[in-house]
Order: sequence, then structure tokens, then C-alpha cells
Amino acid sequence: MCGIVGYVGPRPVQSLLISGLRRLEYRGYDSAGVAIVEGSGIDVIRKAGRIAELEAELAGRSGQGTTGIGHTRWATHGAPNTINAHPHRDCSQNVAVAHNGIIENWSNLKAELIESGHVFQSDTDTEVVAHLIEDMADLPLEESVRAVMRRAEGALALAVVRSDEPDLIVGARRGSPLVVGLGDGENFLASDIPAFLEYTRRMAVLDDDRIVAVRPEGVTVTDLDGAVVEPATREIEWDLESAEKGGFPDFMLKEIFEQPGAIRDTLRGRFDSDGLVRLRELDLDLETARSFNKVFVIACGTSYHAAMMAKYAIERWTRLPVEIDIASEFRYRDPVLDDKTLVIGISQSGETLDTLAAVRYAHAQGTTLIAVTNVVDSALSRESDAVLYTRAGPEIGVAATKTFTTQLVAMQLLALWLAHARGSLDDAVIQNAVTAMSLLPDQVEQALTQSDQIREMSEQWADRRDFFFLGRSAAFPVAMEGALKLKEIAYVRAEGYPAGEMKHGPIALIEEGVVVVGVATNSHVKGKMLSNMEEMRARAATIVLVLTEGDAEGEAVADEVIFVPWAPELLSPVTAVVPLQLLAYWLAKKRGLDVDKPRNLAKTVTVE
Ligand code: F6R
Repeated sequence: MCGIVGYVGPRPVQSLLISGLRRLEYRGYDSAGVAIVEGSGIDVIRKAGRIAELEAELAGRSGQGTTGIGHTRWATHGAPNTINAHPHRDCSQNVAVAHNGIIENWSNLKAELIESGHVFQSDTDTEVVAHLIEDMADLPLEESVRAVMRRAEGALALAVVRSDEPDLIVGARRGSPLVVGLGDGENFLASDIPAFLEYTRRMAVLDDDRIVAVRPEGVTVTDLDGAVVEPATREIEWDLESAEKGGFPDFMLKEIFEQPGAIRDTLRGRFDSDGLVRLRELDLDLETARSFNKVFVIACGTSYHAAMMAKYAIERWTRLPVEIDIASEFRYRDPVLDDKTLVIGISQSGETLDTLAAVRYAHAQGTTLIAVTNVVDSALSRESDAVLYTRAGPEIGVAATKTFTTQLVAMQLLALWLAHARGSLDDAVIQNAVTAMSLLPDQVEQALTQSDQIREMSEQWADRRDFFFLGRSAAFPVAMEGALKLKEIAYVRAEGYPAGEMKHGPIALIEEGVVVVGVATNSHVKGKMLSNMEEMRARAATIVLVLTEGDAEGEAVADEVIFVPWAPELLSPVTAVVPLQLLAYWLAKKRGLDVDKPRNLAKTVTVE
């Protein structure tokens, strides 16, 4: 997730780009840059860090250009430094490109361009676009961007300027957002509306595989064959604050609803044409992958719940024994580690001190360390032997939501990759799992359609003080996560527990008024799970069940049900947790709480 802004018109563009980028900083903030057409050339100014750093770099610059593009980055390829900041240029420096998305075939394109003599400056996938356009210097810019869109695979929103067409920005869109702001004698291009809302309330919506030529006097939209397409236009009624939240009342709800896209991005490019998992960036040789004899997965909080799920997946698919550890406990218990141990650290921020300290300790014993994180070049990724990135984009709400579901997906990918490397699963089994994984974004989308139903359901429990969240097997971590969400944003006491363990003590707490939320999605122990829920029901608790669609047997046990689409047992946590996020969200809202900034919590915890 990155932010793009572009402007053509009579105004000096520099300050306009900076204010647009500030409005898009929620989309990414590891580096930023602008490309401004000045006379017969293009000035590109880029800087690692937040927009303020770029603004300081631009202070005192004398240019008065009125056409330009800007970009705020959330790294997916290459470290978040100045060299990798956008816009990127070609060898001749006549082209500048800002990009949001992932070009899946970039390494093939790059190899081909290097072969034909192009020299690359950055480690990004984006730079290939600038060099491809350079090779088409005799075509109109719009045509060359169209040709790039035909060759590039994956998700891309582009904004491109070329020095010989100074009053033109060409945009293109596939998979990543891009909207056009329609002004009077001026026009805008942006990843999101807030970037231009100060200047115009009229916008054009771009569909996928559209090219847009943006000039001061007007905008032309075409398809990949060059046929003109009339875009839908609309008036924006949001104020700036709601526009920044995409029309949602809070970042948390926006991020819950971003999960289908975040999961899609995390899966993108990670399956090969044989239907197996391909983790090119993992950079671990097969010999190492085959040498492991045990695995530790270490994390905190919500990330620890992803670790819990990973234990089920890795053990079942690779037959390697897995231990999971809360990071703040790990190094104080003298764990047994050696050079045949694989350690996986999960941290959305990549900066959690407890996790860093734990994995450093483990790494120092000669283990192999893989990081699973959402932040490129975070401390965790820098210290690891290999990194698998979740691609959730920045998460602003303190409560982890889209970073959690993308961690689940990343760990499932990693487990399948290990299984293939070690030969512990037949290809056909992996291919089935891959097919099921590719359905997850749409299934999560479907789960989200129940938001209103969950709001209505949860309102009746606004004053209840005791909740239990129960699950068995791979649904147990989901229950733990549901309880954590409710505690942290609604300030309600909630216990996550393995359903089968309730009879060994906690069942003494069950009485009328207690709400018991059971996760009873597809599982080889679903029958046992339903029996456990019957035990809760017999003690007069209110029973809420998350079930697979069409499960009449489960429905009979519950006072309220929430259905999610069917998924194989080890993938079902991805959809099953979504209703629990919504339950916590709506209960917190009913209680009048600030869900984005819950009390006593910080987004990144850098103390022990
Ligand atoms: C809960 C939450 C925290 C984090 C924990 C670890 O919603 O966000 O429990 O999961 O602080 O953070 P990371 O993943 O950044 O290491």
C-alpha cells in the first residue's frame, strides 16, 4: 500500500503535492518523493522517512513547475531508503514513475532490460516501468503506458510523466486504487480522494485495466486496446476526516474491511504455475529447509495467536515438532536450541522489543531465523536469515486486524512451502490447499457482509461483563484472538479458552448472563466442540456460535449464529476471526469507546 498523487494545471505543484501526500500518509510513510516537470526536464526529489523529511529537503527549492507526481511509500520490494523511494526514472532521466502495487513478473522484465543495456538504480519492481517506457520514446506516453500495462503482471496503479509531454500525466490502474479529481482548468490523479479534496469535490472512477491521460483541459480514459471509455463521475460528499477513513467512522473498521485486499496482496505472486507455493524472497536453500528437526514460533499478543495457528499447520503439514512461545517468556526458560532449529519470529511492526530480544537470543545459539512481518527493513527483518512479508499496508488502528489475517495466510504459505521443500506432503495436497487459499479473499468479503447483523446482535450484550471465547484445534487461536480484541477495545473481561478444558475448572464461572462465543467451523473435532457448547448451554450461558454455512446441527445448539463460508480446517481461522473482530468493534462502539486508540495501549511496544 502506497500513496500516489498527481496534478496538472496552473498552480505551482510542489506545495500541492506535499499537502496531497500528507493526506495519503496513512497509506505508507517509509519514504516519499516528487517528480516536477520544469522546462524541458524533470526534477526528482526523494527522501527516506516521513513527508516532513521530504518537505525539509524541498525547502528553498526555486522551481515553479505546474505538472508533477508524488508518492509516499510502504515498501514491498527493496529497503525503505532514499534510493528506493519513488518516483523512479529511466536511464535518460526523461521519464518518472510513481507506482502502488506489486509487479509480479518484475524480475524477468528487469533481467531483459539489463540485457539490453539499461542500468538500474534501485531494488524496486517499479523501476522496470520507467525503463520500459524509455524504450518506447517514439510513442506517445499514453501508448507506452498502455504497452507496459499489457506486459506487467500483478497489481499496479501508475502515475507517469515524461519531459517531452510536459502538460500530461498518464495514469493506469489494475488491482490498486487510483481515482481522478476533476477540476476547472486543472485535474488530479490520486490513490485516494483526500489528496485532492481541498481543491475539488468532483471525481471520476477508474475501473481495472484503464489508462487515463490527465491534462489541464480534460481527462481521457481508454482501455488496453485504446478504445475511449466514459468513466463514471460523482460528487464527493465526505468531509476530509471521513475521506481519510474511506467513509468509515474509524480506521479499525476500515482496516477490518480492507482484509480481502490485504490477503489478496499477501498471496499475490506466491503461487507458481504448477499450483504450488513459491516464496522467491525467502532466500533459504532447500538443503537448509530439509535440515531442521524442530521449529519455534515466537511472538506477542495478536501475533502470538498467529503463532498458535501456525503450530497446527506446520505440525500437520511438515511433521516437524513445533513449540510456540510468548516472546517475553522465551529466553528466560532456557530453551533447547541448536543449528537444526528453525525459529520464526512473527511481528507486524517488526520492532516489538520482547520479540526482538527473544529471536536475538535464539539466533545467537546458531538457529535459522525467519521473520514474518509487515514492515520492510524493520529491525526484525534486518536481523533474520530470511523474511516473509505480509502485505497488509500500514495499520493505524491500535488493535491488529488486517495484519493478523495476513499473518495467518503468510504462516499457511510458509508451512506449505516447508512441506514441499521437505517432501512431507504430496503435490496434490498442496495444490488443493493453494486452491482453497486463493478463495480466502472472497470468503472474507462474504464474512464481512454480516457486519450489520453482528452490530444488532452485539447491542443486546453491551452491559454484559463476562465473555468466554472457546475453540478447539485450529479454532482455539481464533477464540484467543476474539477474546483479546474484546478486552483491548471494549474493556470487557473476556477469556479465550480451549473448549475441552472448561470442564477442568473455568466451567464454575458459567451462569446466566455469561456470553460464550464458540468457534465451531469446519474441524475434525467439531462434534466434540458442539458437545462442549452444550455443556455451557446447560448452565444457562448465552451461546453464540461461528459456524460453517449450512451447519444446522451447530445452529441447534446456539442462541445466535454467525455463518462463514466453508474452508479446509487449517485455513478456516482466516474467515472465522472476522466476525469476532466485528463483534468486539460493535460492542466497543455501543459502549462509546475510541476503538482506534484504546486506553493504555501502544501500536508498537518497544519496552520490555
Ligand atoms: C493486539 C495487538 C498487540 C500486538 C502485539 C505484538 O491487537 O496489536 O497484541 O499484536 O503488541 O505486536 P507486533 O505484531 O507488532 O510485534
